[in-house]
Amino acid sequence: MIQGKKIVLGVSGGIAAYKAVELLRLLVREKAEVFVVMSANAGKFITPLTFESLSGNPVYQEVFGEQSSASMPHIRAAENADLLVVAPATAGSIGKMANGLADDALSNLYLAFRGPVLIAPAMNDGMYLNPAVQENISRMKERGVEFIDPEEGELACGTVGQGRLAEPSRILRAVQTRIAGKEDLTGLKILVTAGPTQEPLDPVRYITNPSSGKMGYAVARQASLRGAEVTLISGPTHLKPPAGVKTFRCKQAGEMLALVKEHFPDCDVLVMVAAVGDFQPDTVQKEKIKKKGETLALKLIPTPDILLEASKTKARQMVIGFAAESQNVVQSAQEKLKRKNLDLIVANDISAPGIGFQSDSNQVTLIDKEGTINSLPRLSKQEIADVLLDRIKANEENKL
Ligand code: CTP
Repeated sequence: MIQGKKIVLGVSGGIAAYKAVELLRLLVREKAEVFVVMSANAGKFITPLTFESLSGNPVYQEVFGEQSSASMPHIRAAENADLLVVAPATAGSIGKMANGLADDALSNLYLAFRGPVLIAPAMNDGMYLNPAVQENISRMKERGVEFIDPEEGELACGTVGQGRLAEPSRILRAVQTRIAGKEDLTGLKILVTAGPTQEPLDPVRYITNPSSGKMGYAVARQASLRGAEVTLISGPTHLKPPAGVKTFRCKQAGEMLALVKEHFPDCDVLVMVAAVGDFQPDTVQKEKIKKKGETLALKLIPTPDILLEASKTKARQMVIGFAAESQNVVQSAQEKLKRKNLDLIVANDISAPGIGFQSDSNQVTLIDKEGTINSLPRLSKQEIADVLLDRIKANEENKL
């Protein structure tokens, strides 16, 4: 329910600005009070009058303007709104927001705004994939800003790729989830593991896997944004800990096990996303192994099964596992669910191209201990995290 909520709609100067009109109509139809703020270039694509007429509120467009800009009291009210959604967000406006540059109405308001922020980028696919833009997006995500990934399709410049503004209905859904779920996990203690593990062979070599940690970090970030008290135990990744999340780093499965054992008794939910390596060398050489021109045979022994160890001691906790499968996805995941005494398992097919490890999106199936199977469409890892957190919330409510 967004009825009566104050939402600031930030519009920047791209061809997709016309879709902001549709989004505004949807927000107004849901009875939200919308206040539009425009970047310096947005006015080249659409007039403030359109937004003013549809929102019924003055439009903030010029920082130093008089007539055409919204009055100071309105700007103050916007700063205290329930949510800021920027759609479309161009590469330029993202760059400014990520780097704290304030030279127009939108970038000024962004810096002054204290509430949650949703950003829906739209730009040429090459620009979107440019490392400079991706780095800006990552930095903002690390600070707790939520992104609604652009869709693939035909772009204004004539090419086909990822860069089209997400459909207004999708942005509306994200706004609704964000506002409804603002604090819906308050009071819940969630323990999340993420990333790969690393098992050393000698001082300079180790065995690991390509997990990026993105899925686990998304779960931790979304849970924290929704008010949960989150502890994250992370294997080695390049990701920064999400704001407000107590984060512990480790490398080996044995270290991760010790941290999970320490924090599990005090949590309500364990979400074991980490891609724990199944094997470790039986001995770690003190000195670097020298090549001698002959075959080197390694003896590997199993690592501890952290999830199994935790679920053996589970009392009231909800325990969730992840399963990366390459064949018979549902059946294999169901076997794991039983063997590890889990409440829920999230399975994905690692043989499908372009999803899973390293990627920002995935296609997963949720299977619970009652046998319910829910196959989700391809979604961003953030959206998957929110679906999972909805399940956790429903499970908690059933306990009452
Ligand atoms: N897991 C764990 N400790 C391990 C291995 C896995 O806690 N040593 C957890 C993972 O974090 C994940 C779940 O168990 O939540 C499933 O992991 P997976 O490796 O797919 O299952 P395995 O039991 O190792 O089965 P297999 O490798 O044979 O498919």
